[in-house]
Amino acid sequence: MSIEINQACDLVIFGAKGDLTKRKLLPALYKLEKSKKIHKYTRIIASGRADWSTQDYIKIVKTAIKNFLNEEIDDFIWKKLSSRIYFCNVDVYKLLHFFRLKEILDQKKNITIYYCAVPPNTLNSIFIGLGNANLNSISSRIVLEKPLGTCLKTSKIINNQISKYFLESQIFRIDHYLGKESILNLLALRFANSFFFHNWNNTAIDHIQITVSEEVGIEGRWNYFDTMGQMKDMVQNHLLQILTILAMDQPKDITAENIRHEKVKILRALNPIDIKNINKKTVRGQYCSGLIKGVKVPSYLEEYGANKTSATETFVAIKASLNNKKWSGVPFYLRTGKRLAHKYSEIVVFFKKMPTNLFQNSNKELLQNKLVIRLEPHSNIKFEFLNKTLGLEEEYKLEHSQLKSSNFYEKNSKNSIDAYERLLFESMRGIQSLFVCRDEVEEAWKWIDPIIDAWKNSQNNTPQLYMSGTWGPKDADLLLLRDNRYWYKFN
Ligand code: BG6
Repeated sequence: MSIEINQACDLVIFGAKGDLTKRKLLPALYKLEKSKKIHKYTRIIASGRADWSTQDYIKIVKTAIKNFLNEEIDDFIWKKLSSRIYFCNVDVYKLLHFFRLKEILDQKKNITIYYCAVPPNTLNSIFIGLGNANLNSISSRIVLEKPLGTCLKTSKIINNQISKYFLESQIFRIDHYLGKESILNLLALRFANSFFFHNWNNTAIDHIQITVSEEVGIEGRWNYFDTMGQMKDMVQNHLLQILTILAMDQPKDITAENIRHEKVKILRALNPIDIKNINKKTVRGQYCSGLIKGVKVPSYLEEYGANKTSATETFVAIKASLNNKKWSGVPFYLRTGKRLAHKYSEIVVFFKKMPTNLFQNSNKELLQNKLVIRLEPHSNIKFEFLNKTLGLEEEYKLEHSQLKSSNFYEKNSKNSIDAYERLLFESMRGIQSLFVCRDEVEEAWKWIDPIIDAWKNSQNNTPQLYMSGTWGPKDADLLLLRDNRYWYKFN
């Protein structure tokens, strides 16, 4: 049974002229329109600083989203979607402009959603403007994009600012990875299958690898990226979210409250990494030029707008671990970088080796069982195990075999939903389980900040260079080799 949206809302987008709106939000709204998931009376109030009419805006964005929709725009659907759009000229630094918004908003409608697709330094003016114009009634919701701060201190400032005007139950913090089909499937895999449920702990598992590898560089975002680096841009949010979903205990139910409660417990259990163990537990790198798909790409320091002395990392590998009964002794190796050899995200669960080898005459070593969860692209799940080879042999010969949920996602791809589509939909339904709560953001920063401080204060405080189109700096391999392990090869 498909879920219906049963309440109409006014969706206000701050930053309606911006990149995120054109790249992600409008294409997602188009798809929701196409699948009839938007209530008949829902309206979209595009707010931005421009003296534009609604018609001007609709014309401009139609051209822009053509590039980001991976299908032709259907005139009927576009007409339906664009009939919901109203443009409102709002300068978020001018309190009076919020009254313009108030005039447009339908006070009879119960729900207004404010989507802040704006840089973090504009957020507070939005909170104040909405509060001042009394636009923050209890039935309104506010959606925030990452980054929420650049460290614990600044993220607390934002969280404190917003909490003056909105309750936690009204705040929807986006981590778009939580809207991805394959990430959601991790819950099903872990909690709907007794085989995995019972073998998901340090008795059965040796270690877990999480790789999020990107081919893109910083895509013209020097100013943003150079103040963040891969650690704050990817690890603080996306990779730690994957880790918490992999490690959390089964929640009491699938409500936001109980899922978040379990995730926060995991973030709190992360063993600290600081100046004492920084070199053993982390590796950072920065890309130099090289070939991506046969095309030469510039080094990080040659990117447009670059400060040639920047020591910002574009690659991170970390050996993380948890201080709790279930996971003690199980390393979680995290790896993410820009300009790597292929774009893919994958989790590999290495199960423990067999305690004895019954077949040692013919097989010196028994390879570990592995569960390989390819998140993207072409999501699938593969289980690797050993089989006896066929034939009349004196000794047991074993061979590597695989069980693969091959094309589950491909077969169902017409039902597969883009992350922003899902998250917009959930925000319209008012369901918070796919959004990040304040405690999660702050606990993640508590773990990340000491690592970044240790990098700054360690003797060797520059990242290792790696060639674009490779798998990152050599030390990333050493991080595992030191433990007699290796990164699972991309295939
Ligand atoms: C964003 C980061 O949050 O995620 C980008 O800011 C990164 O730097 C992107 O490229 C990766 O998202 P995806 O969905 O392509 O893996």
